[in-house]
Amino acid sequence: MKVLLLGAGGFIGVNLTERLLRDGVHDVVAVDIQEEKIDHLINAPDSKLTYLHLDISKDEAEVDKLVADADIVVDLVAVANPSLYVESPFEVYDLNYTQNMKVVEQCRKYKKRLIQFSTCEVYGITAAKAAEQFGLSSKENPCPFSEDETPLIMGPVKNHRWIYACAKQLLERVLDALWKTEGFQFSVIRPFNFVGPRIDYLPSESGGGNPRVFSHFMDALLYGNKPMQLVDGGEAFRAYTYIDDAVDCMVRIIEDKNNNCEGQIFNIGTPENELTIAELATKMCDMFDEHFRQEGDPPRPEIVSISGEEFYGKGYEDCDRRIADITKARTLLGWEPEHDLDSVIFNTMKYFVDEHRKKQATAGA
Ligand code: NAD
Ligand code: UGA
Repeated sequence: MKVLLLGAGGFIGVNLTERLLRDGVHDVVAVDIQEEKIDHLINAPDSKLTYLHLDISKDEAEVDKLVADADIVVDLVAVANPSLYVESPFEVYDLNYTQNMKVVEQCRKYKKRLIQFSTCEVYGITAAKAAEQFGLSSKENPCPFSEDETPLIMGPVKNHRWIYACAKQLLERVLDALWKTEGFQFSVIRPFNFVGPRIDYLPSESGGGNPRVFSHFMDALLYGNKPMQLVDGGEAFRAYTYIDDAVDCMVRIIEDKNNNCEGQIFNIGTPENELTIAELATKMCDMFDEHFRQEGDPPRPEIVSISGEEFYGKGYEDCDRRIADITKARTLLGWEPEHDLDSVIFNTMKYFVDEHRKKQATAGA
């Protein structure tokens, strides 16, 4: 098959591209507007990758041709960073819904199968948190979330954090409507906190910015410029999935060997790998001390609490807990995540530490 990957230069895209190239079964055409993370694949000797620097918002005619020429389209393009949901909510809506809809229309025109990346954030907050906000008590454990049964609960409009989830949810609803009315072929993927090599960037190396939590904590460990900051005490839970496990599931959806992915929404997550963000901070400090610490590294960082408003700005509201029900991926795809929590965190930390040591060696040479 000829697989067209839009947003291939991002964290998930690069890892998926690497795997598809390694398998060597499919032709891969990769599109992005940033080459930093995918450079090593574009410039590898004997690279079989076709890469094009194209913007899905502006280069419609070129993207249209690529869609016409592809067998399957995988759309990863989005703003996927919570600080931007609050800072630039309209841009989040525009890219994640309006511009992505252009790709949907192109796939519709050429009758191409589309794999659309959504998010676990469409589930919003848990029923327990919503009940608490109404002054009710909830004894039922609302997790795990199930694709076709769990209601999607989001906060008020003024809390702009939810614009990301709303845009993704609307896209999902449009795809499902098109499938129902005209048999449009799609699958949706809802990732649950993937981490691994090439996730985001370290603020100390990029002159600032506000990436996802793993990168902030690595920055504190490797550069010591800031403490580890726990937003609202770090009480929120996350369940982490290693990128290789996630990519393995994606490849199964792309290949659809059992011919049962059409019209399906898939959670991809590792339900057992749950912890609070406060626990994540301590675990990363302990692992760093045990496995990676070298002479000259900054001291173990301080761990402090900060309010959501101070950290992200007004309009931030957190997802309190999210665990994937992965029964569907297990039964339809025969997929099972293999990495436990310690190996997910260790492997991702190792990537950051190795890259850092390489930079230190180059700077010292
Ligand atoms: P990412 O930010 O690393 O990748 C997105 C890529 O899209 C970037 O390389 C960016 O340059 C590219 N892009 C942005 N605008 C573009 C445009 N106009 N034209 C072409 N390319 C453009 O994000 P990621 O973590 O790799 O996430 C990929 C997808 O998965 C996103 O849709 C995201 O919402 C979704 N997702 C990811 C996670 C996760 O755990 N990483 C969780 C939930 C959802
Ligand atoms: C993110 C993004 O929304 C999407 O990329 C994606 O949908 C989702 O991850 C995902 O990976 O599934 P989130 O998990 O909230 O959502 O993003 P992080 O920045 O990784 O934050 C996780 C938790 O850590 C939140 O509770 C946040 O408030 C907290 N946090 C973040 C800190 O305590 N300290 C920090 O320095 C950064």
